[in-house]
Amino acid sequence: MRILVTGATGLVGSRFVELLSSKYEFITPSYPEFDLTNKESVEKVFSTYTPDVVVHLAAYTNVSQAENQRDKKDEDCWKINVEGTRNLVSFINPKKTHLIHISTDYVFPGSKENPGPYSEDTIPESDSNKVSWYGFSKAEAEREVNKVLGEDRTILRIIYPVRAKYDLKLDYLRKPLFLFDQGKLYPMFTDQQVNISFIDEVTYALEKIFRNKLYGNYHCCSSDTSTPFDLITYLIEKARGVKNAVKPTTLDEFIKNTNSSKVRYPKFGGLKTEKTQETLGIKFSSSREIVDKLVKQGIS
Ligand SMILES: NC(=O)c1ccc[n+]([C@@H]2O[C@H](COP(=O)([O-])OP(=O)(O)OC[C@H]3O[C@@H](n4cnc5c(N)ncnc54)[C@H](OP(=O)(O)O)[C@@H]3O)[C@@H](O)[C@H]2O)c1
Repeated sequence: MRILVTGATGLVGSRFVELLSSKYEFITPSYPEFDLTNKESVEKVFSTYTPDVVVHLAAYTNVSQAENQRDKKDEDCWKINVEGTRNLVSFINPKKTHLIHISTDYVFPGSKENPGPYSEDTIPESDSNKVSWYGFSKAEAEREVNKVLGEDRTILRIIYPVRAKYDLKLDYLRKPLFLFDQGKLYPMFTDQQVNISFIDEVTYALEKIFRNKLYGNYHCCSSDTSTPFDLITYLIEKARGVKNAVKPTTLDEFIKNTNSSKVRYPKFGGLKTEKTQETLGIKFSSSREIVDKLVKQGIS
């Protein structure tokens, strides 16, 4: 089985390839040889390698910077996430190649009026004012995939992917751990609902999906929701042996004091996983179990 991975140098992609590299043939073209926004470079990779599976992870993922690009379709967030996905999908013949598109909980508003956790079949937000610009670009990318592939689509949504080690980028757990070690940890929200995705479990779910050629929408993350305050308090206790290390604050206060955009910081987010767990025959870990496993792997 020949698997093309876009975004193979990234936080999720590099661990996915690392875990499965002895079992499959991976094609991992990288920028600038492979640039999603350049249709010719995408075509070249497809005609050279004719992959059986494409795991599409590449994306513009800086949510804060994306907000500064709001409504600007000539900037990177839109060009990579929407036009890049459109370019990629245009080369997929579903009879020959199984595309698995990786998406995010940010396609949903996480608002009081329309709260998560969301089930796999929830329709992504179509009003750009109700989600972050990054979230809207990923929702639009999902629509591009749906438009071309319909029932032959596979979309896997994840939320705050985490792993034990990765030098290029801190993630949702390793960033507060790093700040704690520096004595610079800021207070954490007690009123925000989140899940985390253990990348090792995402990899396991992806393998089941492509081996069994499964279509549809899937969610892969912790089986429960938590708050950043609870999660990071538990992490620091387990990883550093320090109890009650985190100061509490609220998202409401933060938004008021910093004049931040509400859509940039969804309060009632999260993904439901029941249907995915049943279809794949997998039991996802709870948030605390993920922390325990990462501590065992030597999170740093
Ligand atoms: N991180 C999160 O919190 C999060 C949460 C939910 C869902 N997701 C989704 O999960 C997926 C993987 O995220 P991640 O955190 O692993 O991303 P990441 O670490 O930011 O890596 C992004 C990857 O995309 C590649 N890329 C960027 N622009 C490209 C272009 N024009 N052409 C080809 N490749 C390009 C990058 O290549 P270079 O290294 O060469 O720049 C890199 O390999 C994304 O689809 C993201 O939307 C992420």
